[in-house]
Amino acid sequence: MPCMSKIATDLIHHPYQPPAGFNAPQPGVYKASTVIFPTVAAMRARNWKTKTGYTYGLHGTPTSFTLEERIATLEGGKHCLLVPSGLAAIASVNMALLKAGDEVLLPDNVYGPSKALAEGELKNWGITHQLYDPMDPQDLHARISTRTRLVWLEAPGSVTMEFGPLEELAAVCRKEGVTTALDNTWGAGLAFNGFDAGADIVVQALTKYPSGGGDVLMGSIVTRDDALHQQIKLCNMRVGWGVGINDVETVLRSLPSIALRYRAHDLAARQLARWLQGRTEIAQVQHPALAGSPGHGHWRALCGPAGDAAQDDGNGGLAAGLFSVVFQDSFSMAEVDAFCDALRLFKLGYSWGGPVSLVVPYDIPLMRSAALGTWKHKGVLVRFSVGLEAVQDLQADLAQALGTLG
Ligand SMILES: Cc1ncc(COP(=O)(O)O)c(C=O)c1O
Repeated sequence: MPCMSKIATDLIHHPYQPPAGFNAPQPGVYKASTVIFPTVAAMRARNWKTKTGYTYGLHGTPTSFTLEERIATLEGGKHCLLVPSGLAAIASVNMALLKAGDEVLLPDNVYGPSKALAEGELKNWGITHQLYDPMDPQDLHARISTRTRLVWLEAPGSVTMEFGPLEELAAVCRKEGVTTALDNTWGAGLAFNGFDAGADIVVQALTKYPSGGGDVLMGSIVTRDDALHQQIKLCNMRVGWGVGINDVETVLRSLPSIALRYRAHDLAARQLARWLQGRTEIAQVQHPALAGSPGHGHWRALCGPAGDAAQDDGNGGLAAGLFSVVFQDSFSMAEVDAFCDALRLFKLGYSWGGPVSLVVPYDIPLMRSAALGTWKHKGVLVRFSVGLEAVQDLQADLAQALGTLG
């Protein structure tokens, strides 16, 4: 056994050092919980609040810092923090900015689990919330009080797809001195710049387009303001949010193709959405880039083609590969469920942004505030996430599944 113990030590403390100067297009992958310091003095001097050195794996490695810098660039911000999921990014902003007695405002069409967080943990911590009409800056304005510390923005709502007047909503908050946080998962940092639209904090579920593979969960929190960044970073340190470096590597690998993938998803989704507009089974198509969809004008102003609208072939500007349809009232929930079950290429599954097309039926009235009355349709809504399959195959799949309806 003495021999065994020597080999154990030799394999851990091996003298070989690879030659310096390795260079490759893809950034290196550095994984660590422990970071090694050369001296005790260096250990004591290192400051985890900065990116000028390394203290502990949870606070960043060269690989996670690299992805943070790239996501900050994607969003047009200055600082980025990575967290374990998009929902964790939302939770982190709430935890860092809100305390007992404060109020947070959410758009009525907000990502559902964000509402659940407000109704659950935030309420338990003495933080109240109100929902506002995402299409109406005056409604938002009327709800802001001296207790309002944070307003969430999201455009479009990722299920019902109404595109609110983001810039006007953000301007109302700025005038009232209230911090705004935008869930920019739909725009992905590509369709529009969240900071230029007026947001103070921009979060994204990197799970969707930045990952692009449907195989990673991660979120980002981007700021331009140094103090705001430090406030959120401090909170993240205290609660121990961290990301796995294998996942960071996967996102770094996908990121260079995000603009190409986003545009491909976009073009296919618009083609399918337009085709569905012509189907008699469908009462309404909700896609912000299509005329007649709620908030199309706001989408056009923020993400639409520059120049003369008359010259646009309908594919100008940028939009995610996501849209929803509302079936005619005559179709029951069970019939619409059967339509979804009949789809072959569109798989039943949550999330979006990956290569596989996905579909989910939703019971929207259950998800919306009856008091606000922002959802007027009676038919069942189905949300499609268009993947990277050939669009004619996806259209044929929709046609055959519609054909099964009575
Ligand atoms: C708009 C939006 N924000 C945030 C999230 C949360 O992302 P994650 O699944 O990484 O928690 C999602 C996920 O579907 C989403 O659609």
